[in-house]
Amino acid sequence: MTNSGSSPRALLTDDHLALLPEGHPLRSGGTADSPMIRAMRGDRPETHPVWFMRQAGRSLPEYREAREGTRMLEACLTPELAAEITLQPVRRHGVDAAIFFSDIVVPLKVAGLDVDIVPGKGPVMGAPYRTAEQIATLPEIPDAAFDPIREAVRLTVEQLGSTPLIGFAGAPFTVAAYMVEGGASRDHLAPRIMMHRDPQAWDALADWTARTAGRFLAAQIEAGASAVQLFDSWAGSLPERDYRRYVMPHSARALAAVEHYGVPRVHFGTGTGELLPAMKEAGADVVGVDYRLDLDEAARRLGPDTPLQGNIDPALLDAGWDVLREHAVDVLSKGEAAVSHIVNLGHGVPAGTDPAVLTRLVDLIHGGRELNDPGR
Ligand code: CP3
Repeated sequence: MTNSGSSPRALLTDDHLALLPEGHPLRSGGTADSPMIRAMRGDRPETHPVWFMRQAGRSLPEYREAREGTRMLEACLTPELAAEITLQPVRRHGVDAAIFFSDIVVPLKVAGLDVDIVPGKGPVMGAPYRTAEQIATLPEIPDAAFDPIREAVRLTVEQLGSTPLIGFAGAPFTVAAYMVEGGASRDHLAPRIMMHRDPQAWDALADWTARTAGRFLAAQIEAGASAVQLFDSWAGSLPERDYRRYVMPHSARALAAVEHYGVPRVHFGTGTGELLPAMKEAGADVVGVDYRLDLDEAARRLGPDTPLQGNIDPALLDAGWDVLREHAVDVLSKGEAAVSHIVNLGHGVPAGTDPAVLTRLVDLIHGGRELNDPGR
């Protein structure tokens, strides 16, 4: 497929690249011309680039083996192990990018906060952050605290060659939601109450999480990440008016913190159909769309010039190959409405997914025989 008349936007200019360290994969030529980075810049490479959120993780037997006996956050902060786990799905599935194996609460851990990740539950805080006094105790994080992350990224990109590494951070709202609730929740009521009841305390907390996200992203970019994604997984619980007033300015600052590098920035959340234009305005180069909204409708809401990422329904990974194939072909077709399309799921890979299905899906998206011959 050729580019339909649009030209890549003003990312990755020489001025930008000069801000990256000399050996950075985008400068030394490895990743700048990869299908993934080209598509993120608004180009249409010959094949659709694809990666999966949560491609590293419990769906892979080699992951379960590597993680045996090591707690999640300890694994994230052990550079050799984090690099190995990051590389596993690239080796197995032939995806077009690696996503850094870490977690949205890793920056809280390196800041010295009492946080753990409990299997089946997710992040759990020793105590919630709800009052101005509690929020005032949040520390300035020393730069050296990010060293294990830089080291893991360096080890990973060394082995990835021309396949880009995508770095990420949790967006200020999603991370703050865990901090205010003290753990996972369904409706995120505690942070949504706080922003109205005590807007100053909310702003102080979201300001801290925004600065922390910006520094986590910068550490990954400087160590070799060629793109980044800001995960605002729970932003869909917000009405647009609250998103724009209490959340968007903070997400915008997290994204702006790394704008000068010129590295593509993806902005993703779930249940965010109504928020997509605001999420783009926050400073995204690519907008991630969850499985609830068709990509042609997302392109209509955002305008056709916005590169889109998404949005195969993770539920269909286990619905039988014919159903999945038909759905994936439909997603590719709806993605034509946008200037460019990075194929992904509409949320993470479920833990019980058969990895062989993911490999077969990558082959299909890369234009294997099944794409043109649906009778197979
Ligand atoms: O492959 C990848 O996508 C890379 C790594 C990654 C992880 N977490 C690893 C992980 C990424 C990008 C994240 C981000 C993350 N973490 C988000 C945003 C993305 C999303 O899914 O919406 C959120 C909300 C979290 C918080 C979190 N951490 C949850 C909800 C869980 C799952 C809890 C469970 O056991 O079901 C975690 C733990 C976690 N993070 C695992 C992995 C591989 C599972 C750990 C394990 O193996 O037990």
